[in-house]
Amino acid sequence: MRKGEKIIFGAMFASVVVLAVVKVNKHSQDEGEDPGIPFYSTATPVVEKSAAKTMHLFNCKKCHSIWGVRDFTQSVPAPSLDGMGMFRSEEWLYEYFTSENPQEILPSRLKAEYRMPSLSSATEQERRDLASYVASLKVEDWYFEETKKARYEKLTGKEYESDEAKN
Ligand code: HEC
Repeated sequence: MRKGEKIIFGAMFASVVVLAVVKVNKHSQDEGEDPGIPFYSTATPVVEKSAAKTMHLFNCKKCHSIWGVRDFTQSVPAPSLDGMGMFRSEEWLYEYFTSENPQEILPSRLKAEYRMPSLSSATEQERRDLASYVASLKVEDWYFEETKKARYEKLTGKEYESDEAKN
């Protein structure tokens, strides 16, 4: 091999190595990027504080998870409250929480002791703040399908098929 050829091959080899390193780095960035927590709320601190009190009083976490957390000693298949504001409006929630019989609004597939209880014994202000808070619970777009699927399966007890899967 002549000196000129060595230089050319050397340069070609070096650029292949550089390209490979760049590609691997880019790949690991795409794969390893932490998308963060998908849940968020837009509630004011006053509403949040009021809702937290009511939620504690009625022990929502016994049956529902919120901020990804629930009481794991219980096994009620209730939908997560995270992202509930993507599915229910504040008005709907207020009606639901006010009803003496929530199952008239949303039928249950569960045994009586697992069903959504009436919150009609809470004060009107408490129910309003709670409705406002639950309506403010959202999920980021990238987690929406997952949330929809989990909720569907909890409410129906059936496996969710996405629109794509149906085609
Ligand atoms: C005893 C268990 C239990 C408790 C306690 C409970 N829930 Fe529920 N909740 C359910 C179940 C189960 C459902 C699904 C409907 C049904 O089966 O009655 C539900 C439904 C709901 C829904 C509508 C869900 C949807 O996907 O549309 C909301 C909102 C809700 N609950 C909020 C709350 C809040 C807020 C609290 C506390 C103040 C609470 N729940 C306390 C069991 C419970």
